[in-house]
Amino acid sequence: MEDRPKRYMRETRTVRTSYVFPPDTNHLGTLFGGKLMAYIDDTASIAAAKLARCTVVTASTDSVDFIAPIRVGNVVTVEAMVSRTGRTSMEIFVKVTAEDLKTEETKIAAISFLTFVALDEDGKPTPVPEIIPETDEERWLNQTAIQRAEQRVLRKQQSEELARYLSKMPL
Ligand SMILES: CC(C)(COP(=O)(O)OP(=O)(O)OC[C@H]1O[C@@H](n2cnc3c(N)ncnc32)[C@H](O)[C@@H]1OP(=O)(O)O)[C@@H](O)C(=O)NCCC(=O)NCCS
Repeated sequence: MEDRPKRYMRETRTVRTSYVFPPDTNHLGTLFGGKLMAYIDDTASIAAAKLARCTVVTASTDSVDFIAPIRVGNVVTVEAMVSRTGRTSMEIFVKVTAEDLKTEETKIAAISFLTFVALDEDGKPTPVPEIIPETDEERWLNQTAIQRAEQRVLRKQQSEELARYLSKMPL
């Protein structure tokens, strides 16, 4: 067995906060989904790199559930943390909140899980430290990650199968 270094989950916690301005919104005055996905990927990649301390790439993004709209003038906060480590891969939990600073109303706007892979200087997957959960929420995220990882393996097989099928079709 490899004796890998260990880090606390909290050491990977990464928070990104900004106002939502009109150029970031659609005709309904709410934040573009694509913009939010870029914030999520960016914040998650920093959380992953805080653990791996090397280049990391997004291997997959589980569904992003847009639970509530984020309106122009709101403050959007994206919070990311490594929730599980494999050998070279890391699952990142991301929670997005929207806050109206005038009314003090805060709501969870989106939740997502992403997987990043650490790469060495030759671009090959390389081992990452193990993660240690401490709080109840962290333990829950860590324990439920196995099931999500199993679902990802199935999804990847289906995507590869679909890609093989589509590659045979005329473009
Ligand atoms: C992600 C990538 C490096 C994996 O390389 P690979 O040759 O498939 O490597 P492996 O099969 O050895 O897998 C390495 C790890 O990644 C995990 N992994 C690979 N594909 C995955 C996927 N789609 N979802 C979740 N995890 C994945 C494996 O389970 C393995 O984890 P482990 O080491 O913790 O057990 C490779 O597929 C890649 O470069 N993809 C493109 C990434 C990219 O460009 N991202 C930016 C998006 S625009």
